[in-house]
Amino acid sequence: MELELLYEGKAKKVYQSDTDENHLILSYKNDATAFNGEKKAQFTGKGRLNNEISSLLFQALDNKGIPSHFIERLDSTTQIVQKTDIIPLEVVIRNIATGSITKRLGIEEKTPFEPALAELFYKDDRLGDPLINDEHALYLTDIKAEELAGIKEKARKVNTALTEIFAAIGVRLVDFKLEFGRNKEGNILLSDEVSPDTCRLWDIETNEKLDKDVFRQGTGDLITVYEEILNRLEAQL
Ligand code: C5P
Repeated sequence: MELELLYEGKAKKVYQSDTDENHLILSYKNDATAFNGEKKAQFTGKGRLNNEISSLLFQALDNKGIPSHFIERLDSTTQIVQKTDIIPLEVVIRNIATGSITKRLGIEEKTPFEPALAELFYKDDRLGDPLINDEHALYLTDIKAEELAGIKEKARKVNTALTEIFAAIGVRLVDFKLEFGRNKEGNILLSDEVSPDTCRLWDIETNEKLDKDVFRQGTGDLITVYEEILNRLEAQL
């Protein structure tokens, strides 16, 4: 039976599960986009790699007491998740300065942030996902102040857990982006994906970039570095 396509994003398609109305099927695509969709390419195997990496990371987070929308991996490119309404916020946590913050605020590359720095962006392609403050977030979404505080606290817990998970495979978690959604019961859950598309990952020894920056900057082969992350995670988890 053909599943009902609910939404197609830049990196994933979202289908309604045909066996449970509260479940969605996420299908990871081979498309890579950067600079708000200005740079585009397709990489055979990217969908599989991100689906497998994200599934392993969501399971590892769950084992560390951080639940998410993830239920189980279905096959190489799809996973079953709890249905949520995505809150249009991108929560970025930064451990080391690189990327947009260095240009926006003139902070020197590789400056460590202790404690980690949390930023909010408004998830809106037409506006280019602008940086917003807490008051903007409360105005632009239906979340309450306590819920926003809870989201930030959860994002920091994810940072602690992911930093440990990646350190164990010789990788430094530089920064990452999370999204949250509200389920049928009204609870806010970690959603979307956790992958080299959404995290900056540097080899601890060599500082080699093992994430989407190789595509953004045209400095390496995306599949090779994503495979490296998956192989190391599979060996460890
Ligand atoms: O570009 P910027 O430095 O703000 O990105 C911070 C982190 O958020 C990076 O890990 C990047 O991969 C991630 N990000 C994302 N999706 C976006 C913007 C940033 O996953 N739309």
